[in-house]
Amino acid sequence: MIGNLNHVAIAVPDLDAATAKYRDQLGAKVSAPQDEPDHGVRVVFVELPNTKIELLTPLGENSPIQAFLDKNPDGGIHHMCFETDDVDNASAKLTEDGIRVLGGGASKIGAHGKPVIFLHPKDFCATLIELENA
Ligand code: CO
Repeated sequence: MIGNLNHVAIAVPDLDAATAKYRDQLGAKVSAPQDEPDHGVRVVFVELPNTKIELLTPLGENSPIQAFLDKNPDGGIHHMCFETDDVDNASAKLTEDGIRVLGGGASKIGAHGKPVIFLHPKDFCATLIELENA
């Protein structure tokens, strides 16, 4: 069902400081910050030859990553995203298998303009998994 690792998302309390680390200490190519109001995050993409790292910081109130940062004030790995052919098919199959798909199973347009779903970490080795259309 899954293919490439599309990105690993890291929640950070200070987006500028995190961006500077990846750019200046690791020499990575980083994007300009991008606001994703529908997802309650501001994001910087760190472009690697084979995948991406997304640095996320809360945007606005009720950001879905605020609770994570409250528990992990220094930030940390928030989720991993794998590509799949059809997230809606994946959602139906996983739901049938007893895996909780967040948001009632409906896909939502993600940061790259493609449909995504998220799987409950309690059903997946304590890791929040995002699936995105390839
Ligand atoms: Co993501």
